[in-house]
Amino acid sequence: MPPSSHLLDGKALSQKIQLELKAQVDALQPQMGRPPGLAVLMVGDNPASAAYVRNKERACARVGINSYGQHFPAETSQVELTAVIHRLNQDPNVDGILVQLPLPPHLDAEALLYEIAPDKDADGLHPLNLGRLVRGETGLRSCTPAGVMRLLETYDVSLVGKRAVVLGRSILVGKPMALMLLEANATVTIAHSKTEEIAKLTQSADILVAAIGRPGYVTADMVKPGAVVVDVGINRVEDSAGKARLVGDVDFAKVESKASLITPVPGGIGPMTVAMLLYNTVWSYSQGSKASYNS
Ligand code: GUN
Repeated sequence: MPPSSHLLDGKALSQKIQLELKAQVDALQPQMGRPPGLAVLMVGDNPASAAYVRNKERACARVGINSYGQHFPAETSQVELTAVIHRLNQDPNVDGILVQLPLPPHLDAEALLYEIAPDKDADGLHPLNLGRLVRGETGLRSCTPAGVMRLLETYDVSLVGKRAVVLGRSILVGKPMALMLLEANATVTIAHSKTEEIAKLTQSADILVAAIGRPGYVTADMVKPGAVVVDVGINRVEDSAGKARLVGDVDFAKVESKASLITPVPGGIGPMTVAMLLYNTVWSYSQGSKASYNS
């Protein structure tokens, strides 16, 4: 995609990917005899999660993926959710299963992720798929970092030998992000809440990925001139008039002029995460029951 400005336009790329996936689904459906299916499981009433889930289901509809989403009350037990996942694992109409995070505190998210059949792990968070990533093997990849990689690739951002700094070490983003950048031959550092002199690290980064969930944390003085800045944060903040808006982990207004390329929030990594979720679901669908991901 030719860069029309220094913005990494995740929204436009996500739309393009969705069109490609729709064509792929249309082509596969006659031989598969059914459309692809994705089950998004949401527990409780976290408003941000509800908005993400709605977005995911709308995107599924655009691409021709059936949604088997289920919304459970906050007090749903671990045993009930495990049984639901086991049923979906066996359901031949379902190619992807996703447990929307965060879960209410009485639930053990890690234990639930183990229950998802690895070949239906649309979020790429099952230990087997994370292990495949560590080993550099083909497998379902975590959606947000996969979306970052796809966006960087599309804009021809060179990673080989470059210094990449990832802010954040979550299983959802930071750790798989670092591994994907390493796989692309970048020299990778992960910084986190206990890291000393973070600014010194970030100032050396050719590629800076912020995934810490702190609005406006990355300021202009922390950024190397000409760096590529990827903002994974989606934080809801209120202005002085009490009006809510979404901001990233990067102080966009100040950092924009210093970066060579930068993702906006919204319209950057958020839509790419959705595109990669659909990509993973269609990929599992295309593999049918033979999926082994070891090729
Ligand atoms: N919560 C916020 N982002 C995500 C995501 O990509 N996957 C899941 N499962 N939960 C999330």
